[in-house]
Amino acid sequence: MKSADFASRLADVAKTVDGVLMKLFADEALPGEILRPQRVVESMRYAALAGGKRLRPFLVIETARLFGKDGEGVLRTAAAIECVHCYSLVHDDLPAMDNDDLRRGQPTTHKKYDEATAILAGDALLTVAFDILADEPTSPDAATRIALVKSLARASGLGGMVGGQLLDLEAEGRFADGTPLPLTDTQILRLQSMKTGALLFAGVEMGAIIGGASAAEHEALGRYGRALGVAFQIADDLLDEESDAATMGKATGKDAAMGKGTLVRLWGKEAARKRLGELVEEAESALAGFGDKADVLREAARFVANRDR
Ligand code: IPE
Ligand code: IPE
Ligand code: MG
Ligand code: MG
Ligand code: MG
Repeated sequence: MKSADFASRLADVAKTVDGVLMKLFADEALPGEILRPQRVVESMRYAALAGGKRLRPFLVIETARLFGKDGEGVLRTAAAIECVHCYSLVHDDLPAMDNDDLRRGQPTTHKKYDEATAILAGDALLTVAFDILADEPTSPDAATRIALVKSLARASGLGGMVGGQLLDLEAEGRFADGTPLPLTDTQILRLQSMKTGALLFAGVEMGAIIGGASAAEHEALGRYGRALGVAFQIADDLLDEESDAATMGKATGKDAAMGKGTLVRLWGKEAARKRLGELVEEAESALAGFGDKADVLREAARFVANRDR
C-alpha cells in the first residue's frame, strides 16, 4: 500500500469517527442519566472533535477488517478508544502535569475553559468510553462487550497509561527534589510502553476481539501492537526535538527542558532512530501470517515511524 493511499484511508477514518463521536456527545441525556450540563458536553466536544490523527481508532478498524468485520460495533469501539486517548491528552496538558497551552493546533481544554472543566471533561470522556463499550449496539454478544471493556481498562489504567504517566512524571523528579532520575533504557521502554504503547496495543487487541481472532492470531497481533506502541513514543520524542509547534499543533522542545525520560535523550537521536527502524521491522514481521491483507497495518507501522506530526 502506498503512503498516499494510507493517508487518505486515515483521513476517511478520522471523518467517520468524528461523526460517531458527534452523535455520542449529543445534548440529550441517555436513559439512566439525569442531565448533560452544556459546559461539560461542549468541553468534551472541544477536546475530542478538533483534529487528531485518530490512529487508535484506525487500528481498531483495520484490525477488525483483517477478519472481515466492520459496521456500527467496530465504529463504536473505535470511538471509545479515542475518548480515552482524548481524556489522556486533556489531563496530560493540565498545569499539574505537562502544563501545555497548545494541543492539536488550538488552546488546550483548560486554557479554553478552566482547569476544573478540563478535569471533568476528561473524566466524562473516560467514563463515556466504557458506557459505549458496555452498550448493546457495540456487540449483541455480552462476552465480547466484557472482553472489550477489560482490554481498554487494563490498557488505560493503573498498569497501563495511568501508571505510565506516573512513571513519566516521577522520572522528571517531580515527587522528589526535582532532579530527573537517571533511568536505564529498559526502564524508559517500560514507561513508554505503558504511557503510550498500551493504548495503541489495545486498539489492535480490541480489533482482534471483535474479529474473533484465534489465540495464535491474538499473539501475533499483540507483538505487532506492542512494537508499534513503543515506536510511536520514540517518534513522538524525536518530533519533540526536531519539529515545531506549527507543524505538530503542540509545543515542542519540552522533553529536554522538563528532564523527561526518553530514549532520544539517553541514546541520542541517531540511536533512537535506529531502534525505531528495528521496531517497525518487528511490527511488520509479526504480521507475516496474515499475508497481503495486513498491508494497511504494515503501512501504519511505517507511518508511525515516519510521520511528521
Ligand atoms: C499524542 O498522541 C500523545 C502521545 C501518546 C505521544 P497522538 O500523536 O496520537 O495525538 P493526536 O491524537 O494525533 O492528536
Ligand atoms: C503523553 O506523552 C502520553 C499520554 C498518555 C497522553 P507526552 O506528554 O509526550 O505527549 P504529548 O507530547 O504531550 O502529546
Ligand atoms: Mg506527558
Ligand atoms: Mg505532554
Ligand atoms: Mg511528547
